[in-house]
Amino acid sequence: MNKPKTPPAKPALSTSLIHHAYEPPAGFDAPQPGVYKASTVIFANTQAMRERTWKEKAGYTYGLHGTPTTFTLEERIATLEGGLQSLLLPSGLAAIALTDMALLRAGDELLIPHNAYGPSKELARHDLAQWGITHRFYDPMDVQSLEAAITPATRLVWLEAPGSVTMEFPDLPALLRAARAKGVLTALDNTWGAGIAFNAFDLTPEQGGERLGVDISMHALTKFPSGGGDVLMGAVTTRDEALHLRLKFAHMRMGWGVGANDAETILRSLPSLPLRYEAQDRSARMLAQWWSQRTEIVQVLHPALPGSPGHEHWQALCGGAASLFSVVFDERFASAQVDAFVDALKLFKIGYSWAGPISLVVPYDLATLRPQQAWRGSLVRFSVGLEAVGDLIADCEQALDSALSSSR
Ligand SMILES: Cc1ncc(COP(=O)(O)O)c(C=O)c1O
Repeated sequence: MNKPKTPPAKPALSTSLIHHAYEPPAGFDAPQPGVYKASTVIFANTQAMRERTWKEKAGYTYGLHGTPTTFTLEERIATLEGGLQSLLLPSGLAAIALTDMALLRAGDELLIPHNAYGPSKELARHDLAQWGITHRFYDPMDVQSLEAAITPATRLVWLEAPGSVTMEFPDLPALLRAARAKGVLTALDNTWGAGIAFNAFDLTPEQGGERLGVDISMHALTKFPSGGGDVLMGAVTTRDEALHLRLKFAHMRMGWGVGANDAETILRSLPSLPLRYEAQDRSARMLAQWWSQRTEIVQVLHPALPGSPGHEHWQALCGGAASLFSVVFDERFASAQVDAFVDALKLFKIGYSWAGPISLVVPYDLATLRPQQAWRGSLVRFSVGLEAVGDLIADCEQALDSALSSSR
């Protein structure tokens, strides 16, 4: 007798990103999705035009509201994130703005971690404030700080893991529980985790039928999904249909479409995302370890390194750790000396963004960056690219020697 076949195990994410549902045009069975460009989409007759609604994905109505290329990318981002539906936006920051603008109205209050991506805070300070939406900052490393900040007017809590630049890794499940206990929606900036380090929609094992996960995951596709430092895009992913529709209708009303060529560039990069993430993570950890032995600095901020703020929360939740870390220079070095070190780097280029093939650095003044904390002095944020890690270490060493050797 034939043994019953055991169902195939759920494929790994890296496999799913390659063997992903896609229907090529009839008679052209190539696995690579095409680049479909359109503003106008032709209808066969007036009845077909009237029957097709731009609020559904059952058909195409107008290039702004989706093409086969953008719908395919949306589906793959939802798979990557562990969600059900995604929306694409022209940048990560636009994805943050959509979330705020779709879910908040005058009189509502928004809570943001004090170490959040800076422009998200600026949006709240300027535009949201002008529309009568208030915001407050909370300390993401102190759950009670979030609990105390929630009021009856709070409608949305932003989360970020780890915080931008200073890399503190919060206790995400505890923050989520605090928000959920008060019935407040949560949105995670999941750019660092990228769908690889942890699953934002399944943060804890299912307990008593309850899954602990974020309501919204926002992802700057500009970083790992692009991987080339050449495309700007963002995504907002959900698992809840009603929430997705609230975001989607606002997205449509605001006209935030993305170009087909950009979408295709990201589609092309997605299958290599898990490999790039792992390689850049490995190099970043090696470089961070090397920095931890240097006497010019007082701290390495990298969630996978013991002693980094929130290391235990990273350990409880994550496998991977992306490609970013920061070092805090000893205060005996003036900011001009730290700038001289940054200028002396040859392979590391000075520039914003991260997760591309080129390693990047940005220097920050801690007193301005984190006035809430006692940290002072200069911090340098490293984004590790795809160069050989030995060359990157040698670059840091030669820059330290040439810029700081007289003050050691
Ligand atoms: C954590 C984080 N979120 C969001 C963004 C915004 O992405 P974009 O540059 O696509 O607007 C960035 C960009 O650096 C980021 O680092």
